[in-house]
Amino acid sequence: MRLSFLRLIVACCWAELTTAKYIVPGARWHDTDGNLISAHAGSVNFDDATGKFWWFGEYKIEGQTEGGGVSVYSSEDLATWSYHGLALEPIEGHPFISPEMIIQRPKVVYSEATSQYHMWWHADNSSYGLLLQGLATSPTVGGPYTFANATSPLDNWSQDFGLFTDYKDGRSYALYSNGDRREARDVYVAAYDEGVNALEAVVHRFDKYDLEAPCIVQTESSYYALMSHKTGYRPNNVVAFRADSLAGPWSQPWIVAPLNTRGFNSQSGYTLTIRGTEKITHLYLGDQWDSNSLWESRYIWLPMRIDDKKKDLQIERHDVYDLDVKTGDWKPIQGETYFGKDATTKGNAFKQEANFASDGVILTGIYGNDSTVTFDGIKGTGKPQWVSFYYQNTDDMGFGDQPDERNCCLILAGGSPDRIKGAWQLRRISSVVVNGDEANMQTLFQRDTHKGIILSTPLLLTLEEGSSNTITVGGLSNGVDYRGADLDRIIVYPSEP
Ligand SMILES: *[C@@H]1O[C@H](CO)[C@@H](O)[C@H](O)[C@H]1NC(C)=O
Ligand SMILES: *[C@@H]1O[C@H](CO)[C@@H](O)[C@H](O)[C@H]1NC(C)=O
Ligand SMILES: *[C@@H]1O[C@H](CO)[C@@H](O)[C@H](O)[C@H]1NC(C)=O
Ligand SMILES: *[C@@H]1O[C@H](CO)[C@@H](O)[C@H](O)[C@H]1NC(C)=O
Repeated sequence: MRLSFLRLIVACCWAELTTAKYIVPGARWHDTDGNLISAHAGSVNFDDATGKFWWFGEYKIEGQTEGGGVSVYSSEDLATWSYHGLALEPIEGHPFISPEMIIQRPKVVYSEATSQYHMWWHADNSSYGLLLQGLATSPTVGGPYTFANATSPLDNWSQDFGLFTDYKDGRSYALYSNGDRREARDVYVAAYDEGVNALEAVVHRFDKYDLEAPCIVQTESSYYALMSHKTGYRPNNVVAFRADSLAGPWSQPWIVAPLNTRGFNSQSGYTLTIRGTEKITHLYLGDQWDSNSLWESRYIWLPMRIDDKKKDLQIERHDVYDLDVKTGDWKPIQGETYFGKDATTKGNAFKQEANFASDGVILTGIYGNDSTVTFDGIKGTGKPQWVSFYYQNTDDMGFGDQPDERNCCLILAGGSPDRIKGAWQLRRISSVVVNGDEANMQTLFQRDTHKGIILSTPLLLTLEEGSSNTITVGGLSNGVDYRGADLDRIIVYPSEP
């Protein structure tokens, strides 16, 4: 009797734990304390000892966007994250981990040989003159991690850092772009020693591609290496290479998301493979940087479609999806679409012909609070719902006003924008008001897309139950003017179960 009662409790709570929350790429992600998740350019791995996923990343807050140390979060479903503080805390005056130093792209791997967790990262000074790899260790996954050393990889330079562990033999590899100097535009794959204490040998050199942000995803028969071009914090078209073996030969690179979406507005960073009971799912864990305020940068996590027969990998974009980490299965959530052609315009906002938009029209001229557009007749549940705003922002990313050697190379790398000497970064910000309730206005960031490229960005909104809600979009100040991006449509998703 007692036993079955216990079983009942276990069954109940297990069910609760596995009720997955949705994953919403590009949204403001909050931890279980309600704070913005700050774990940029990091790694997410499943840890056998604790039975949880652990996410490490660069900790960035307003006023301190570098040298903030490495934050750590844990989760059972990849959607609900608990904060555990700093796994690697900066130390004043330390030669490598003081708040004045660069502590970027941290990755954590368990070393069987030392029975310790090893954290590796790109260790540098603020002018990127050291180009080292840092190592810190901890007996427990959550840390705190103790600094061990910062070394140059096999007597070379190391900028953007990645780490990959082969699931077949457990061997780990460092991936690093060699740097921005003319003689160093390579990305290296180098094998660690058995204990993941030091690098042993270069396994492959992707030479003269001038790429960065490397990561690798492995299927049963292939390795795919993903990297971005070098355009600073502005996204570009992420590419992949394929090989049967890490040593190569590697294929030509190809672009892994629809052309000119610039990797769905993200940079490659890490991959996570879920080997579920029913399905193997490969996730792309990208960063959506915001160079105006790095600490507000977001995360673009999306499933990848890999076809080993066609030797192809593509990132698949969904606004909202439900991932079951036990089975490995995921499904996109279906929402209800409201099109721009049915919206009401006010002031100077109007519907303009656009052959690439839904119904051949796009809402434009959205400016301040006088020139707005309103979608009406929207069905709501009375509980928070994700709403995706499909927009076009044709500001286009430009270079700074001072072309330099680096700019010349960006053009060669193919990551160039369409307007030379544009502003370093532009951003459209819109106001979103539900049912005229201006006191609860929300801000919608609409990063550059491209001409004719419509991308989406989500907000969590609470609509009233029934089908007479309105959503009004206006323009907010971006520091220059009050222009909002052009709107194509919105999709309203059901509340989370
Ligand atoms: C970073 O290190 C390089 C190489 O030692 C040095 O030349 C440069 O001055 C350093 N930068 C800073 C900001 O200390
Ligand atoms: C260091 O990098 C440069 C440029 O990629 C390369 O020519 C050189 O062979 C590398 N050295 C080693 C030891 O890997
Ligand atoms: C760095 O630290 C690791 C772990 O303590 C150690 O095994 C390795 O030898 C050290 N490397 C150097 C160059 O001191
Ligand atoms: C409307 O926008 C103007 C700037 O265009 C601003 O000064 C004013 O405060 C705004 N009014 C409201 C109610 O938000």
